[in-house]
Amino acid sequence: MIQVEHLTKRYAGFTAIQDLSFEVSKGEIVGFLGPNGAGKSTTMRILSGYMPYTSGRVSIAGFDIFEQSVEARRHIGYLPESTPLYHDMRVHEYLRYRAALKGVDGPKITERVGDVLEMCSLREKERAIIGTLSKGQKQRVGLADALVHDPDLLILDEPTIGLDPNQIRQVRELIKNLAHRRTVLISTHILPEVEIMCSRVIVIHKGKIRASDTAENLLRNHRAAGVVRVELSQPPSDVLSILSALAGVKDVSEEKTESGTRYHLRTDAEANPSEDVLRIAREKNWHLTELSRRKPSLEDVFVDLTHGD
Ligand SMILES: Nc1ncnc2c1ncn2[C@@H]1O[C@H](COP(=O)(O)OP(=O)(O)OP(=O)(O)O)[C@@H](O)[C@H]1O
Ligand SMILES: [Mg+2]
Repeated sequence: MIQVEHLTKRYAGFTAIQDLSFEVSKGEIVGFLGPNGAGKSTTMRILSGYMPYTSGRVSIAGFDIFEQSVEARRHIGYLPESTPLYHDMRVHEYLRYRAALKGVDGPKITERVGDVLEMCSLREKERAIIGTLSKGQKQRVGLADALVHDPDLLILDEPTIGLDPNQIRQVRELIKNLAHRRTVLISTHILPEVEIMCSRVIVIHKGKIRASDTAENLLRNHRAAGVVRVELSQPPSDVLSILSALAGVKDVSEEKTESGTRYHLRTDAEANPSEDVLRIAREKNWHLTELSRRKPSLEDVFVDLTHGD
C-alpha cells in the first residue's frame, strides 16, 4: 500500500529525513515512533502528497505520489499534526465542503457526510460551529474529514495528542474499528497505545529508520533495560556502590521515600539481579522493605534506540 524508497527531505540546508526506505502492506496498522524532531510529520506530509521531497520515490496503492498525485491522494485519508479546520463553519458544512473538494460525487456527499458523522460520534454536534467545539471534538472532525472520501489508507499524525484519557480511548476505539478494511500509519508518543493497536512499529530517529518490527520482536531481540526496584529503610552509605557493581546492572538512581530510600537499577534485558540483592541484604543485614522487578517495556526499547547520538 505504501512504498518508500530512499526518501530524503532537506529544508534550507537541514536534512530532516535521510534515505528512508520502508513498505506498509495492505491491512497493516503501523506505529510510526520517534522523539520530537525525528522526522515523523515531515515523512507523513510527504506520503500524503502535501509536501514535495528532495529525492527518492513514494508510491501509494501503486501510484507515484508526485507524478500521479490525484490518483494516489484518492486512496489517502490524512490527519495532519495540527488540523487546519475552518473555525467559523458548522461541522456538517465543513465536511460537505471537504467531501466536494476531494471529489466525492454530488449525490453521494450527503450519504458520506452522514456516515462519517456517525463513525466519529459527531451526530449531536453536526450543527455546531467548529470554533466552539472541545479539542477532542475538533480532533474527531479532523478524523471525519480524513475519512469522508472513504480512503483505504489512513495517515494519522498524533491523533490522540492533547486529548483527555476518555477521549483518547474513544479515538483509539474508533481507529481500531476503522482499521478493519483499511491500512493505517499512525504516529504517536503514547507507547502503550502502540502495543495495543499496531501490528508493527517503525522507529525513526534523526531522520533515519532505527527499527521496523512487531513490538513483540523488538522486546525480544533488543537488549532493552528492565528495572529492579530496591527499597531500604536505613541504607548504609555503601549501598549505591554495591548495587551499581552487580552483574547486569547498567545504572542506579536513588530516590528518598517516606520509609527510607528507593533504588532503581536499570538492567540488561536478560539480567535479574534480584537474587544477588537478596543475598547481600541477608549478609549485610540491610532492612529491605521492597524488592520488585519490571520487565523491559516498549518504552525501554524506544529509549535505547533513540537516546544520545
Ligand atoms: N518547514 C520547515 N522548515 C525547516 N525545518 C523544518 C520544517 N519542518 C520541520 N523542520 C525540521 O525538521 C525536523 C523534523 O521535524 P518533524 O516535524 O518532521 O518532526 P516530528 O518527528 O514530527 O517531531 P514531533 O514529535 O515533535 O512532532 C525538525 O528538526 C524540524 O525542526
Ligand atoms: Mg510531528
